[in-house]
Amino acid sequence: MTDQVLIRPIGEDERVAWEPLWIAYLEFYKAKLPQETRDVTWRRFHDPSEPIFALGAYINGRMVGIAHYMFHRSAWTLGDYCYLQDLYVDETVRGSGAGRALIEGVCDQAKASGASRVHWLTQPGNSPARILYDKIAEDSGFMQYRVIF
Ligand SMILES: CC(C)(COP(=O)(O)OP(=O)(O)OC[C@H]1O[C@@H](n2cnc3c(N)ncnc32)[C@H](O)[C@@H]1OP(=O)(O)O)[C@@H](O)C(=O)NCCC(=O)NCCS
Repeated sequence: MTDQVLIRPIGEDERVAWEPLWIAYLEFYKAKLPQETRDVTWRRFHDPSEPIFALGAYINGRMVGIAHYMFHRSAWTLGDYCYLQDLYVDETVRGSGAGRALIEGVCDQAKASGASRVHWLTQPGNSPARILYDKIAEDSGFMQYRVIF
């Protein structure tokens, strides 16, 4: 029988479980962040005045995946949109449904907040992610451009 995946907000006392998953995700993108950014981001997740949130996926009580998401205004709707910025599942449990459950969890939170959309980006060559996304969402057909300062 497959172990059940539980999705819930990551508590303020769970940084020790969250941080290795966050670092592994950053490594996946060959990225590094200064300690100050990690500290501030962590504080923002637990500051009720901030529109950024973190969900964890748990199997047998162990945090095995994370999703970071945030709400933002839209000129097209009265309600906010929800942007799923980061999604990561520990390599050892991939294929157990944690990734899907995390996206569904973000959608549940977004619906409960009155948002009308959850959207996210991925790289065209990220096949495992795209196999999952193609099952549960529609490809918007938009490309992302960016100017970095
Ligand atoms: C993308 C990622 C989050 C998926 O997490 P996961 O827990 O393995 O995904 P799930 O187990 O929920 O898989 C969901 C579906 O996709 C399929 N799938 C996932 N990975 C697959 C793979 N490597 N090959 C084939 N199918 C795959 C599963 O069969 C499953 O289908 P089902 O629900 O119909 O049975 C995970 O691979 C990951 O963390 N990758 C590295 C970071 C990353 O790419 N993040 C996303 C950035 S946009």
